[in-house]
Amino acid sequence: MPTLFEPFKLKDVHLRNRIAVPPMCQYMAEDGMPNDWHGVHYASIARGGAGLVIVEATGVSPEGRITPHCTGLWNDAQRDAFVPIAASIKAAGAVPGIQLGHAGRKASANRPWEGDDHLAEGDPRGWQTIAPSALAFGANLPKVPREMSLEEITRVREDFVAAARRALEAGFEWLELHFAHGYLGQSFFSPHSNQRTDAYGGSRENRSRFLLETLAAVREVWPEHLPLTARFGVIEFDGDDERTMTESIELVREFKAGGLDLLSVSIGFSTPEANIPWGPGFMGPIAQRVGRESGLPVASAWGFGTPELSQKAITSGELDLVMVARAHLADPHWPYAAAKALGIERPSWTLPAPYAHWLERY
Ligand SMILES: Cc1cc2nc3c(=O)[nH]c(=O)nc-3n(C[C@H](O)[C@H](O)[C@H](O)COP(=O)(O)O)c2cc1C
Repeated sequence: MPTLFEPFKLKDVHLRNRIAVPPMCQYMAEDGMPNDWHGVHYASIARGGAGLVIVEATGVSPEGRITPHCTGLWNDAQRDAFVPIAASIKAAGAVPGIQLGHAGRKASANRPWEGDDHLAEGDPRGWQTIAPSALAFGANLPKVPREMSLEEITRVREDFVAAARRALEAGFEWLELHFAHGYLGQSFFSPHSNQRTDAYGGSRENRSRFLLETLAAVREVWPEHLPLTARFGVIEFDGDDERTMTESIELVREFKAGGLDLLSVSIGFSTPEANIPWGPGFMGPIAQRVGRESGLPVASAWGFGTPELSQKAITSGELDLVMVARAHLADPHWPYAAAKALGIERPSWTLPAPYAHWLERY
């Protein structure tokens, strides 16, 4: 079995190690435009040594943003602003990735540190949300979305395609479709949020349709030689978990047949009633099962931010890539710290030369 610091190849892309930084919204953009904050943030993390840095959930349309401060890729100015960001990640030796998403019924929200709830009714910064069915998430997100028409479903799919094309033009080499966390893709799949009676609701096949059609449409514009991946919640922890897992794995097999290259295995977050068994690396065995039964390479996050756990997730074969999120906010040089903690001697090769030289010397 490989170790955390062994390289990983997917399609024509080489990662220098098995550490990936999963998408983390910064909520610092205006009109979807990334700015200096994003430039410094992503370059710092990439310089820290991870093999892959995935830029935050980026809206394929204005109404697809989670908050008014999320990044977007629905116009060419946003694409142009992403060019130096992708380039700086690559210059630091990491592979630049981006997550494209549509927040569905969870959109039009305040930033987490400003309430983490829906913008109040009548707030001029807010907008009408859309979703498979006119059902609110509930709890802190009570806005009732408008049920999407068939024309809107087609339009959003095309928005994903246009954003994927722009991501490629901006220099990203790894694309992640956000089909997780109760946002639009996940909410088509979950019976918690999808009660449609047309071809997009009801049976497992129908609830999968939007995700598979979006994947197929994006696959046509995203080059074969670059990884096309998705993040998908395979389990809800709502008490009906074996059924959800079985259905999810059926869909993941179809993702694979449809040209997906890797799955980032995550949680559905489709209902506020979920009872999630938080704990260090708790998604590892679930991801391993998805990988084994689908044949796709898998990554996962949630509590892998201690070096021993992340190393074990790779050496045990649970994961092909380990996603380390918050630990990189605490220390962008987490890979260096991890290598030292794992007893790797003189691990300054995880750092850029202007840092490594001095840390090795004294
Ligand atoms: C600040 C912040 C922003 C996040 N934004 C996203 C996002 O844009 N897309 C996504 O799929 N997950 C997002 N997540 C979830 C992370 O990708 C990750 O799954 C989570 O933090 C658990 O991993 P960790 O225990 O290593 O932090 C976010 C998490 C944090 C802390």
